[in-house]
Amino acid sequence: MKVIECQSYEALSQKAAGIVAETVREKPDAVLGLATGGTPEGTYRELIRLHQTENLSFQDITTINLDEYAGLSGDDPNSYHCYMNERFFQHIDSQPSRHFIPDGNASDLEAECKRYEQLIESLGGADIQLLGIGRNGHIGFNEPGTSFQSRTHVVALNEQTRQANARYFTSIDRVPKKAVTMGIQTILSSKRILLLISGTSKAEAAKRLLDGQVSEEFPASALHLHPNVSVLIDQEAAGFRH
Ligand code: F6R
Repeated sequence: MKVIECQSYEALSQKAAGIVAETVREKPDAVLGLATGGTPEGTYRELIRLHQTENLSFQDITTINLDEYAGLSGDDPNSYHCYMNERFFQHIDSQPSRHFIPDGNASDLEAECKRYEQLIESLGGADIQLLGIGRNGHIGFNEPGTSFQSRTHVVALNEQTRQANARYFTSIDRVPKKAVTMGIQTILSSKRILLLISGTSKAEAAKRLLDGQVSEEFPASALHLHPNVSVLIDQEAAGFRH
């Protein structure tokens, strides 16, 4: 696990976008594994800037997203489909038919998980997977206790995660109670992983991750089992190291 400390959130976002851009320049038909949430927003902004001002083309990429809420249709403003369209896809030249996100509104969610997992397998996994981290160490929606062998599955969201995500909804009651997420093993099938950690609220999770103990009680620790992980961490989240 390579740890790269960045001065600020902006610097972290630029660094992350630079690594993704390099991947796309080297392999124009790369499969990009994408995340939602607050942390990667700056990375998407920077990638859009590189597209608009430095000719970075996404024309031939395929994208696979980590997760989606259950019970929200793709045009629901709180869905991750909508998040991705608004914050990234609408502003670049990728092909909508090559954007893949689990369908949280599928009538048979178990079948949807199988379909999504097979799709990722057929693509050979992500060339690079962007990840954020929850304060409890979750990656994707894989909460503490999730098996490291897990593949795409349906999860019940715990209260802490629902509270943390309530900021995007008009009230906590509207935050879905379930989601579909890539499993830990699905994430580990990526060729390269880029974990972004920003802000003081993530300092404890960062410390626990970098302490190095591997346990299913702390999902992000599974990343120690992967040979090509870069952790980009800003100074606020890395405060404990100084
Ligand atoms: C997002 C995701 C989550 C977030 C995590 C951190 O697709 O799967 O694991 O990465 O909850 O969220 P933020 O960045 O909002 O702190």
